[in-house]
Amino acid sequence: MPEADETLTRAAYDTVADVYADRFTATEPEQAVELAMIDHFCALLGEPRRVLDAGCGAGRMLPYLAARGCRPEGIDLSSQMVRRAATDHPEFPCAVGSLTAIGFPDDTFDGVFSWYSTIHNPDDDLDRILAEMVRVLRPGGHLLVAFQVGEGVRRVGQGFAAAGYDVVMHRYHRSTDDIATRLRSHGLEIVARLERAPVDPEPDPQAVVIGRRVSG
Ligand SMILES: C[S@@+](CC[C@H](N)C(=O)[O-])C[C@H]1O[C@@H](n2cnc3c(N)ncnc32)[C@H](O)[C@@H]1O
Repeated sequence: MPEADETLTRAAYDTVADVYADRFTATEPEQAVELAMIDHFCALLGEPRRVLDAGCGAGRMLPYLAARGCRPEGIDLSSQMVRRAATDHPEFPCAVGSLTAIGFPDDTFDGVFSWYSTIHNPDDDLDRILAEMVRVLRPGGHLLVAFQVGEGVRRVGQGFAAAGYDVVMHRYHRSTDDIATRLRSHGLEIVARLERAPVDPEPDPQAVVIGRRVSG
């Protein structure tokens, strides 16, 4: 990610971490069909189902993954989001780190779970992040990527204005075909994909793609 975007994203999430963590404590925003995709992802994983929640935020998805037999741990760019993850979910290891240089050895995880964590990364840097996610995934492991569907870049952060925060972030929208093609180019085969219509008050469709690492 260009430094300007990474700095912007980190600063924004550091600022709103407590509001975000208090607003979304678990899976309140998710639709049943998305949870079904996560359930499917968990069921696909081999033992010991060690999962990296890549861009875990304040850790709200960690208990959901654990309840489905996974051993999740998180990393996130924002130290304040990680602080909340450590406070609210102390049973799961969480660390500050960038997805552009994931601090784990090759072939570490049975699954990598990216729940709306690549949405702030411009296209130029997305492939570097996907390469890192695949690098830490063992052969045969699975990667899940969730994102807003569409084209171009939006300026977001207005949702925190009511709470008194003036933050700016960029959100990059992609097509489901684009993400699937990128995953294939990184040695994954696509095993499941979902695209659903927006649900009020969301303005955009949402997608989830799951790939399996086939190359050694
Ligand atoms: C929309 S939030 C989603 C957080 C969490 N996955 C959830 O569903 O609650 C995006 C998260 O991705 C993190 N993030 C964005 N770019 C990142 C990067 N390059 N490396 C690590 N984390 C990143 C942000 O700090 C933020 O916590």
